[in-house]
Amino acid sequence: MKRITVINMKGGCGKTTIATNLASMLAALGRNTTLMDYDPQGSSIYWLKHRTQDVGEINGIAAYPANQAVIRSWRLQPPQNTDYVIVDTPAGLKGLDMIDQISGSDIILIPVLPSSIDTHATADFIRDLYLIAKVKTKNIRLCIVCNRVKPNTLSFHALERFLDVLDIPVIAKLRETQNYIKASECGLGIHELGSKSSEKDIEDWHQIVNWLDTERQSQCNL
Ligand SMILES: Nc1ncnc2c1ncn2[C@@H]1O[C@H](COP(=O)(O)OP(=O)(O)O)[C@@H](O)[C@H]1O
Ligand SMILES: [Mg+2]
Repeated sequence: MKRITVINMKGGCGKTTIATNLASMLAALGRNTTLMDYDPQGSSIYWLKHRTQDVGEINGIAAYPANQAVIRSWRLQPPQNTDYVIVDTPAGLKGLDMIDQISGSDIILIPVLPSSIDTHATADFIRDLYLIAKVKTKNIRLCIVCNRVKPNTLSFHALERFLDVLDIPVIAKLRETQNYIKASECGLGIHELGSKSSEKDIEDWHQIVNWLDTERQSQCNL
């Protein structure tokens, strides 16, 4: 079982979009997938409730405290046969809350938008992951997904320059497209829309899954 936590201190960078699309892509490819939602807004669980039975099945766990009640730890356990646990997280996690949230992760997937405010916040967040959460000593791998990319824009080139100096794999650059919004409204991944205009975007998701599968394989071999 591999646990992938989708996290960035910054809100609105695409954590839920990436968590839900990744879960649906993995499910469509036959991986037993659990989607855990730690964000009190519950957007991933809301998305899951709109999913119909004819698409790949995803097990959902609402991990945020519901009605202030303490969640029993057994309710946070994914089923035994799970291949991937995808964790959606709230924005703004720092210090001990952030350390708690990433504990047990194999991979931390960091979405980042091409804007100077987002780049700045992401730089601080990555520094905290290394210095405070000590991801390197815990053997947690980091990867980055650029989101809402508009190629050939100054802001995207600035983001590329920032990413060039980091030693973290950039595993995909997702386009900005209304198809993500359409898919999110009906509990689907972009690949499940059946839209011809999504073909290029679906390739991005295959690239993400390939990277995760290869990483999973190499961690199993350690
Ligand atoms: N690649 C994209 N193209 C178009 N809209 C997007 C894209 N990624 C995210 N969005 C939209 O941006 C908003 C914020 O994304 P969301 O995934 O909810 O961010 P977060 O979970 O980090 O707060 C949502 O309305 C979502 O549909
Ligand atoms: Mg969200």
